[in-house]
Amino acid sequence: MDPIIQIQDLYKTFTENDKELVALDHINLDIPRNQFTVLIGPSGCGKTTLLNTIAGFEKATSGKILLDGKPILKPAPDRGYVFQDYALFPWLTVLGNITFGLTHNGWEKKGAEEKAREYIDLVHLQGFEEAYPHTLSGGMKQRVAIARALAYNPEVLLMDEPFGALDAQTRKHMQRELVKILEKEQKTVVFVTHSVIEAVFLADLVIVMTARPGKVKGMVKIDLPRKRSYVEDHYLHYREQILELLEEEVEKGFED
Ligand SMILES: Nc1ncnc2c1ncn2[C@@H]1O[C@H](COP(=O)(O)OP(=O)(O)OP(=O)(O)O)[C@@H](O)[C@H]1O
Ligand SMILES: [Mg+2]
Repeated sequence: MDPIIQIQDLYKTFTENDKELVALDHINLDIPRNQFTVLIGPSGCGKTTLLNTIAGFEKATSGKILLDGKPILKPAPDRGYVFQDYALFPWLTVLGNITFGLTHNGWEKKGAEEKAREYIDLVHLQGFEEAYPHTLSGGMKQRVAIARALAYNPEVLLMDEPFGALDAQTRKHMQRELVKILEKEQKTVVFVTHSVIEAVFLADLVIVMTARPGKVKGMVKIDLPRKRSYVEDHYLHYREQILELLEEEVEKGFED
């Protein structure tokens, strides 16, 4: 395997009201380049914390994360982030939301707009360039957020439950759209979800985390072609494997 990200003995604590809480407990993990890795685990097990540490929003208490062999110290355009709640700027149009980060990173306005339009096309939002976020549906907002993250051409796309707030039909549609986008734009994706079905639909590799403090419980490699269907036998076999790992941990999460 050719890992793009190497997580080495990552330990992360938070201190609240003088109490120390261990969020991530010595995680060792390689994230394969240009593949789709899904993180799944009980609520509070540290998935967002792990993603935020890869993004550079959070600092490791000890241990480190390497990107192409270099330690991650802060956020940078080589890592794009898609948040569950979209996190669009409400005062900016679709075009404005996508160009904002580009011009902030030194792009000329004209070049930034051209680039933004390219990604607006990619996520099928032509005609909505001048629309404000509050006039868009959830799925459309999430497509703006994906276009905004991709427009920098990051090497790694970090996605924290990006489809968690969508209705079931829109969610399936967005999953298929994401697969299509990734056919055109080869990326390393690290994607957090609570949905085993979504994990098996999207992932090359599923990492199951333990209940807090978060460790790696197990890994399931999904050896299926890119174009997948929810009803294949193989699909069910993978679902069961992941569920088995997960269920034990979810039970534990409710014990304390
Ligand atoms: N900034 C913070 N300050 C204090 N504690 C935090 C902070 N961020 C996260 N935590 C704690 O760290 C643990 C892991 O949180 P995290 O948000 O990473 O979990 P998660 O797996 O993403 O959960 P969920 O599935 O509910 O989104 C939790 O116990 C949480 O309360
Ligand atoms: Mg989370």
